Amino acid sequence: MLWLSPFKYIQSNHHLLTLVLLLSAPLTVNSQELNILDHTIDFGPDQVTLEWTSQPGDFYTFWQSTDLDKWQALERLLPADLGSSTTHTEAFIDTPTQAFFRVSKNLDTTPDLPAVPYTYTDPLPAHFTTNSFPLQYRVQNAAADNDNAPLNNPTTDAGATLGRVLFYDKSLSSNQTISCASCHQQAFGFSDPLTQSVGFEGGLTRRHSMALGNAALYLPGKFFWDERAATLEDQVLQPIQDPVEMGLTLPELEAVVSSKDFYPPLFEAVFGDPAINSDRISKALAQFVRSLVSANSRYDRARARVTDVLDPFPTTESTAGADDNFTTQENLGKDLFMRRNTNGNSRPLTCIDCHVSEAFVSPWRPGPAQNATSTTVNNGLDLPNAIDRGVRETTGNIADSEKFKMPSLRNIAVRPPYMHDGSLATLEEVVEHYSSGLQPHPNLQQPLLLVISEDPLELEAIQLDFTPEEKSALVAFLKTLTDDTLLTHEKYSDPFE
Ligand code: HEC
Ligand code: HEC
Repeated sequence: MLWLSPFKYIQSNHHLLTLVLLLSAPLTVNSQELNILDHTIDFGPDQVTLEWTSQPGDFYTFWQSTDLDKWQALERLLPADLGSSTTHTEAFIDTPTQAFFRVSKNLDTTPDLPAVPYTYTDPLPAHFTTNSFPLQYRVQNAAADNDNAPLNNPTTDAGATLGRVLFYDKSLSSNQTISCASCHQQAFGFSDPLTQSVGFEGGLTRRHSMALGNAALYLPGKFFWDERAATLEDQVLQPIQDPVEMGLTLPELEAVVSSKDFYPPLFEAVFGDPAINSDRISKALAQFVRSLVSANSRYDRARARVTDVLDPFPTTESTAGADDNFTTQENLGKDLFMRRNTNGNSRPLTCIDCHVSEAFVSPWRPGPAQNATSTTVNNGLDLPNAIDRGVRETTGNIADSEKFKMPSLRNIAVRPPYMHDGSLATLEEVVEHYSSGLQPHPNLQQPLLLVISEDPLELEAIQLDFTPEEKSALVAFLKTLTDDTLLTHEKYSDPFE
């Protein structure tokens, strides 16, 4: 059947129907191309009516755009709102000269899960459970002692499995286009390559996406660059409700998850009964995020062959031929990362003083100076009064200005750009920042800050001042932290593919 109407069909895939309305120029449309929803459309002067047959369990989002770029969800129709045959009328937002409408249908794919769940609770290697830094390394401890899992939500294989499905499920966003994994991509160490990530309607996040490896191993247990989430269980529901990121309300989230046949058995396997609510969704997502532990990089394999972390790692492969040796250059980089006195030079502070434990996470002891109310630090990226005030935005404490939590450095080589604002494009730029670019911020971690004069206040940052050879060695060392298990293992991958 051919219709004459002012609408031109422009795009469709299995779940998405896009219509273009050109109020001025009537166009011909072939309804055969519109068979996704098997529907009829009626256009009034200021509204559009759609009729289609909905399947049990289906839900739809109906939305409008004036430029095909930014989409506004007009209404979300959940299974409970829909009869077997549905007539739905939407008023135009304004009276546009041009408008586009899109109806998206829930994704109907089911996850492909192994009959026996994967193991997410492997024992950690010895260098995660024992601290071998010498006593004078005051802020170091065993990475495993920094686990932030609460007693009421220990990670189990069933829980992480459910969390994995939720993490990759695009129907957890208002228009079924975005999942957690859109911005936390496995191949990029669960961060993403964009400076700012793109949310469900094309909007940008304020900051760069954080890598999720070793998120479990941060004792204060606070999340986000500015630590505004008190626990991981609190954190995981925030992107879902964020108006830029995923755009659902918690009742909508519960309805969407409840509408799918495959979820109740997964909830039952974790919680003992199939009830679905946002508290359980939060617990399962948190378990999956905590399961993303990186402990099998080349650093870890070479590390397993020495007793003390400061010992040089073996420079020849073991008989296992397991790619478990370091080069001389990587050992120099490790020394520079871990020792203040290296290569005949002495520095007031070095990388390990802030990127702590062998999980290389944010520090866990309260900052010594400046009455800080958080354990986060300032690394001289900006001067005061930056647009982004960091942890101060959460605590209101001036001593927390421009301080940031940082993700673990595991997999750092595969996930540029760097820092909360994605302002550094390469590892070379990062090392140069510490070598010569530190800004004299009043909260710059001591003892990197010199007071030149009190009145007027004049501050100076001590630069770490690496030679070209040392800079290359540091970059080479950072590349040993790439962990293919985390980047490629199926148990962390998309079960819908
Ligand atoms: C649209 C992109 C986007 C989506 C979708 C998204 N995130 Fe994020 N995520 C970010 C950004 C950006 C940050 C840093 C935000 C900040 O600190 O202000 C972040 C931070 C985090 C952190 C904090 C890590 C840390 O060490 O403090 C966790 C955990 C996290 N996200 C998990 C999730 C989960 C789980 C989901 C799905 C429910 C999700 N994210 C969905 C972009 C996204
Ligand atoms: C004074 C504490 C401190 C020292 C010393 C320090 N860092 Fe950092 N580092 C931080 C903080 C804080 C951030 C996050 C800052 C931000 O995003 O604004 C960070 C971020 C990074 C990042 C980017 C992380 C990401 O996920 O984007 C890398 C890489 C890094 N540091 C490497 C190093 C290396 C290599 C050294 C030693 C040469 C070093 N750091 C020394 C505190 C420190």
